[in-house]
Amino acid sequence: MRDEYGAAAGPANDAETADARGTGLVDQSAPPADGVVMCRSRDGLAGINVSGTELVIWQRALPEGLHDWLERTDAATLPHVRILVEPGDLRPALEPLLDECGLPADDMRGLLIDDIGGLVSAFAGITGIGRVDVRLERINHDSCWRFHRDTVETRLVTAYRGPTTEWVQPADADRAIGEQREYDGPLERLGDHDVAVFNGKWAGPERGIVHRSPPIAGTGMTRLLLCLNKRTVVSPEPWVKA
Ligand SMILES: [Fe+2]
Repeated sequence: MRDEYGAAAGPANDAETADARGTGLVDQSAPPADGVVMCRSRDGLAGINVSGTELVIWQRALPEGLHDWLERTDAATLPHVRILVEPGDLRPALEPLLDECGLPADDMRGLLIDDIGGLVSAFAGITGIGRVDVRLERINHDSCWRFHRDTVETRLVTAYRGPTTEWVQPADADRAIGEQREYDGPLERLGDHDVAVFNGKWAGPERGIVHRSPPIAGTGMTRLLLCLNKRTVVSPEPWVKA
């Protein structure tokens, strides 16, 4: 694993990397040996397009107050919605659906929409698409608990609430898929609110990082997961202004 500037993952501590970190630029010349890149800005997620990269993780914190607001929000009002939308229409498309879910319309909800909007714009830019299939899901069961590669080219995920996506290094992928619940080898976990862009198996032969959603059935926990994809046959119809 390396960071987006070609150095070993971990805090950069010299002036040379400080400027690159500020811009979020990606070193295009040196793909990581294990296909995994850490970045410290939303722009750094574009590193998924660097040849040899299979997973980019933006290590980040949510805006002030949003984590606490999400944690204390009544789980029953967390959204479970899906829209196919142009990035510029995210707010008008999402707000009525959040109203229907009963999610309180306050400043923190505005911050949440802003954050999702930024990620939708970034994903559209990274993948070169006009509309993004946006799934914002309330999950309180063992969703996608099996180790797998996604049946997509590229997918963005982040957990706004609850435990984060688990993944394994490529060297452990075959064992994790073979052993599933019995797998007890090395397991990586996204940090709280980290944003990950994964390549899936449609990115090419032998492509894609093996991962799973954390099993949470029976724990009482509720996750709020954002999942961004290109349009497919199961996407909803495009959102249009009423
Ligand atoms: Fe997945």
